[in-house]
Amino acid sequence: MPRRRPNGVGLEVSALGLGCMGMSQTYGVPDDRESIATIHRALERGCFFFDTAESYGPFVNEELLGRALRGRREEAVIATKFGWEYEGTRRGALNSKPEHIRRVVDECLGRLKTDRIDVLYQHRVDLEVPIEEVAGAVGELIQAGKVLHFGLSEAGAGTIARAHEVCPVALLQTEYSLWERHIEQEILPAIRERGIGLVAYSPLGRGFLTSTALPAEEYPESDYRRHDPRFQGDNFTANTAAASVVREVAARREVTPAQIALAWLLHRGEDIVPIPGTKRRVTLEENLAAVDVVLDAEDLRRLDEALPPEAVAGTRYPEAVMHMNGR
Ligand SMILES: NC(=O)c1ccc[n+]([C@@H]2O[C@H](COP(=O)([O-])OP(=O)(O)OC[C@H]3O[C@@H](n4cnc5c(N)ncnc54)[C@H](OP(=O)(O)O)[C@@H]3O)[C@@H](O)[C@H]2O)c1
Repeated sequence: MPRRRPNGVGLEVSALGLGCMGMSQTYGVPDDRESIATIHRALERGCFFFDTAESYGPFVNEELLGRALRGRREEAVIATKFGWEYEGTRRGALNSKPEHIRRVVDECLGRLKTDRIDVLYQHRVDLEVPIEEVAGAVGELIQAGKVLHFGLSEAGAGTIARAHEVCPVALLQTEYSLWERHIEQEILPAIRERGIGLVAYSPLGRGFLTSTALPAEEYPESDYRRHDPRFQGDNFTANTAAASVVREVAARREVTPAQIALAWLLHRGEDIVPIPGTKRRVTLEENLAAVDVVLDAEDLRRLDEALPPEAVAGTRYPEAVMHMNGR
């Protein structure tokens, strides 16, 4: 697996990371044994950039990753996130107050069974706390050696610029894929100008860009896609038609649609690191093989023309939570 240095601060990661969220929530039933085997297989294959968050589970996803990496911590780059209050396992309000961040980081370190977090993201921007205070608090944790790099998730261009003034932002994590290209106008140029790398989450469109997507109503109630506007009714039909080009290019290249979706991201710049999520070794193997897929100008043109930024029907989150993005 090739490596990438997606930013100006020297952080080195594998060209593809592994999103661990789905091992504990969002898509289907957890299977810890297979998830841990998947994390071990990723390490064997040179994929060593693992993405988790306090909120995944909550808590149990970090514990799972900590368990999987026991005795192998030195081989991994761990990214986690803070951002909400919890009462037990019930998620409350956003909270990025400095004292809260400090407490959460100590708890994350305990769950991950490590003495340092390689990348600490603010999961969502908290409008109650100026971003300068957040950056200052993370900067102090970096000074203390508990955190190595600062990241933001789903932040807007103005927030990124202000944060970066106080503490260099190493990575922005946001949704980016062949069917979610909203960052291309403003955010991508803003981070490139500052040497900030991009971690592309949901690079497979939450599974839509693979050959396994189903209409919303066919997923169980606990599966996020049942509520994702892009998987609903007419949106699903329109999006399936638009994404047929991914299947066509995959057939031409004799690879899978998922590999095309990941290869497209890898072709968009050395500063982009997709973190496809899976809890299965067989799917991991398929996704990692995308690093060997070469797309030519004709493939890229067909994908771009068939899936321009405005091609997707439906917002990427339900309306009730969409406002938390890009601010
Ligand atoms: N910062 C944020 O707010 C945020 C939000 C969402 C996600 N994330 C991070 O980004 C990571 C990746 O995003 P994601 O998991 O939402 O979406 P994704 O990677 O686009 O898709 C994951 C879904 O696709 C399935 N899948 C993966 N590879 C496949 C393949 N080759 N063929 C068929 N199905 C395949 C997975 O199934 P199985 O699991 O059953 O294999 C899972 O249901 C997450 O794990 C998380 O760490 C961050």
